[in-house]
Amino acid sequence: MTADHRTLVDAYPPIGLRISAGPVELGGIDDDTAIELANLAADGVHPPDRMPFLHPWTLTTPDRFHVEFLRYHWGLRARFAPDAWSLDLAVRHDGELVGTQGVVTNDFRRTRAGETGSWLGLRHQGRGIGTLMRRTLCAFLFDELGFEQVTSSAFADNVASNRVSLAVGYRPNGTHRSARGEGWATNNDYLLTPDALVRPPALSVQGAEPLRRFLGLAEAAPNG
Ligand SMILES: CC(C)(COP(=O)(O)OP(=O)(O)OC[C@H]1O[C@@H](n2cnc3c(N)ncnc32)[C@H](O)[C@@H]1OP(=O)(O)O)[C@@H](O)C(=O)NCCC(=O)NCCS
Repeated sequence: MTADHRTLVDAYPPIGLRISAGPVELGGIDDDTAIELANLAADGVHPPDRMPFLHPWTLTTPDRFHVEFLRYHWGLRARFAPDAWSLDLAVRHDGELVGTQGVVTNDFRRTRAGETGSWLGLRHQGRGIGTLMRRTLCAFLFDELGFEQVTSSAFADNVASNRVSLAVGYRPNGTHRSARGEGWATNNDYLLTPDALVRPPALSVQGAEPLRRFLGLAEAAPNG
């Protein structure tokens, strides 16, 4: 074994990614950030009677909530591989931690496609942050990782999420049913292509090249 000593970010580049646009910064989630996010989510993400998530993670009992939140993020790291990865980023607005914005992919090197998902702490909702953070991530995905399609899906009664998709430039792309509570609910599907993106303010990006190499995309880097 040669002495090849690395930092955490050298070994796992998603943690070193930083994308800024105007007042919003999206950044990799280390353990300190993950527990801060767990505390933010524990303060509330949605009214108790309106579940916005396909997997109702916010219903975890208080004694298990933080550790299950951490286990979810540890699981994303443990499974992160070139052909199936989820990049979940912490969102800061004017420096304050407000939520997460992510994308999940399968067979990305063939499909060039992925699906976005996000949440904000209740007290940070309805101020335009959700729209800006999604525009920012999508611009990064198209510009720096070579995405050709981004999809999203929201329960039909989740007004804010549906409106964010439209405000970012996604087009309606049908509906499907998903299990919800004891029954089912309609999900609206959306599709975004690079030409339709309503762009955020100019992006400033750190850590894209190591991430592209980690994803097996170095030779395909549009700007690299
Ligand atoms: C979905 C979410 C990320 C959107 O972020 P946000 O910052 O609240 O949304 P914005 O302030 O950017 O608003 C986007 C649009 O939704 C509208 N909107 C926001 N909250 C609303 C509400 N409670 N009721 C009706 N409309 C709402 C805004 O007026 C705006 O509409 P416009 O583009 O026509 O002007 C955020 O509300 C959230 O975290 N919700 C709970 C978790 C969730 O639903 N995640 C997505 C699961 S699919």
